[in-house]
Amino acid sequence: MIIKELNGLKDGSNVQNLFGWVDNVRDHGGLTFIDLRDFDSTIQLVFDKESSINVGVKNEYYIKVSGVFSKRDEGLVNNKTAYGQYEILINSLDIVNESKTLPFQIEDNIDTDESIRLKYRYLDLRRNEMKNNIVARSKTFKSIRNIMNKLEILEIDTPTLIKSTPEGAKDFLVPSRKSPGSFYALPQSPQMYKQLFMMSGFPNYYQIAKCYRDEDSRKDRQPEFTQLDIEFSNANPELVKHNIEIIVKHIFKEAFDIKITTPFNSITYEDSMSLYGTDKPDLRIKETLSDITDIFLNTDIKFIKDTINNSGKVLSLHTKNTLSRKNIDLLDESIKLLGSNGLGWFKIDNNEISGPLAKFLNDKEKSELGLFGDGLIVFQAGNLLEIAKYMDHLRREIFINNSDEVINFTWVEDFPYFEIENGILQPSHHPFTAPKSPDDFEKNPKNSKALHYDLVLNGVELGSGSQRINNPRLQKLVLEKWGLTEIDIDQRFGWFIEALSYGTPQHAGFAIGIDRLVAEILKQPSIRDVIPFPKTQSGMDPLTDAPSEINEDDLIEYNLRYVDNE
Ligand code: AMO
Repeated sequence: MIIKELNGLKDGSNVQNLFGWVDNVRDHGGLTFIDLRDFDSTIQLVFDKESSINVGVKNEYYIKVSGVFSKRDEGLVNNKTAYGQYEILINSLDIVNESKTLPFQIEDNIDTDESIRLKYRYLDLRRNEMKNNIVARSKTFKSIRNIMNKLEILEIDTPTLIKSTPEGAKDFLVPSRKSPGSFYALPQSPQMYKQLFMMSGFPNYYQIAKCYRDEDSRKDRQPEFTQLDIEFSNANPELVKHNIEIIVKHIFKEAFDIKITTPFNSITYEDSMSLYGTDKPDLRIKETLSDITDIFLNTDIKFIKDTINNSGKVLSLHTKNTLSRKNIDLLDESIKLLGSNGLGWFKIDNNEISGPLAKFLNDKEKSELGLFGDGLIVFQAGNLLEIAKYMDHLRREIFINNSDEVINFTWVEDFPYFEIENGILQPSHHPFTAPKSPDDFEKNPKNSKALHYDLVLNGVELGSGSQRINNPRLQKLVLEKWGLTEIDIDQRFGWFIEALSYGTPQHAGFAIGIDRLVAEILKQPSIRDVIPFPKTQSGMDPLTDAPSEINEDDLIEYNLRYVDNE
């Protein structure tokens, strides 16, 4: 019998064979109390002074007890737990399994190092706050399946030992024993396979899909993560976005009892970058960036002058509530960590401007800055894309608690087809995305737009999708403009271009990051907190010690050998 089944028992009833973990043991003047815990409840066990039972248990022993269900004395009721009005007077106890001394206590709000928690994740998941996160994840899966069934979208799986699906990260590779020297890649997403389903004639598809990307882990990124992956045939972006709104609305209501309003707002990439400095704007914060470059066209402040001479910009934020010097210093430190040279700021008080740079301001600059009104102006000068990143960070930091809005969704659209990442041209989505205008794309790919749309929740990129290319010639052109050689295209994508060549319908789709969705709704600091067995920041699994070296025999069998790169 599990604790939940005590529900409805009367005072004085016999309880037989109740199983659970010893949550804690307390001794009070000869009486022993144990809180017995199972997956969803706890109840107090009482051992009488005269009882001949040798209690002899410690925390996390798994035990079996029998006894009498009894109402507690008035003054001893614990209203915090479901069975706080009752206890069980124990007449037999069996130890099913002992527990070693615990590496940390099974309770909420522990400050144990995360790597220890991950090493003993099975114990970490016994703690209420973690258990609740995983249950919420499970409810999310269930509500996804319910709405997908209702919308008659087909759940189909795709292989995980594949050639490669480019999504902008490095692949995880798997050596093949049967084809020595050859490797499979793990899918960065099921992108190309879901498109193949559309080519095969399926009307739609979804999958709760594992994706693998060998990139640095962060609070919202894991090398292995889970997507709700979707595709529709004969579709366009409007149809996909409409369905995604229905699906997201359903998940929020069914799994989390949160009512959200649809349709979601929408903003163009360009507006988002200039107003918020990012393509993932947190629109719960209403304050926007100002471009104050023009104020400084004749400035004596050298670094601003140099910036403007190099076609750079000066972006600012104004806050009416001025910040303490300590908070200004903290902001300065935090943007330096992101790569900024430091925080520029002016305080305005009754038209008086102060701050480390104030003495270099000319009269025109003073009067134009003064127009912002009393408060604080923080700014960054430099290359637009570079400083946009710092301004986004400052905006979130300064105004973080400004809003009581809990959920804010927005679509971001009209992305440039290509962006420069670490000096390399990359499709801003993936290279199967249709250009907004194939003609413009052909003439001027670097300035052309993509039929790509992102869904942003509270400043977090929750999902992404696009209209797909369904014309083999256009697909080839995109890969060429990306910079791939004829041989590369043939070797990596020849099979896909071939598949596109047999009457491919128009199709479009989307993928939602399920880990990010659950973490954001539960307000967890990292997606690691909603993934049962996540990797550390360095991609390790402290529980199993993966990844690990393989032994000499396996190396031979897989036709691999370690090389010394020194
Ligand atoms: P994209 O690469 O934008 O698109 O991924 C879609 C969503 O997946 C989540 N996500 C991640 N979550 C955790 N850790 C990661 N490393 C990680 N990378 C991505 C994000 C993201 O918005 N095939 C396309 C979708 C499509 O076009 O249909 C794709 O994978 O929430």
